[in-house]
Amino acid sequence: MVCLGNICRSPLAEGILKSKLPKNIFFIDSAGTGNYHIGEQPDNRSITIAKKKGIDLTDQRARQFVTSDFDTFDYIYAMDSSNFNNIINLARNTEDVAKVKLILDELNDSSIVDVPDPYFSGKQGFENVYQLLDNVCTVIANKLITN
Ligand code: 4NP
Repeated sequence: MVCLGNICRSPLAEGILKSKLPKNIFFIDSAGTGNYHIGEQPDNRSITIAKKKGIDLTDQRARQFVTSDFDTFDYIYAMDSSNFNNIINLARNTEDVAKVKLILDELNDSSIVDVPDPYFSGKQGFENVYQLLDNVCTVIANKLITN
């Protein structure tokens, strides 16, 4: 799960997807394409909305996406088109490129392409992001379980 800062959207996506899949079979992690928040806990607003839904994000620490993530992971989900392009720019070959998906493409709803960056928005922005990610992670989890 990849966003820009790895403090708002992708920590939520990581926590939500983890809550829907067995821990012993799936390794799920998140990262940011930017380096601004390396080592930080998720944003308090992400921690709070997740906690309300029974998901604990407090053990997460922000890290920057690295090229070796293409080797570590089978699927790389970008939260928005800008994150998508940043990741693609690091790809070494067509195999790397093929692993990268825009997360909301998993919803069959062409009216929404990007998970909106909630960093400069209020609590409602985080609620909206939570709902979007919960919906799409249900689709992803079902696909991964049946694969
Ligand atoms: P995220 O949100 O990419 O969902 O973690 C952001 C967090 C921090 C910044 C931008 C987006 N920032 O500019 O510091």
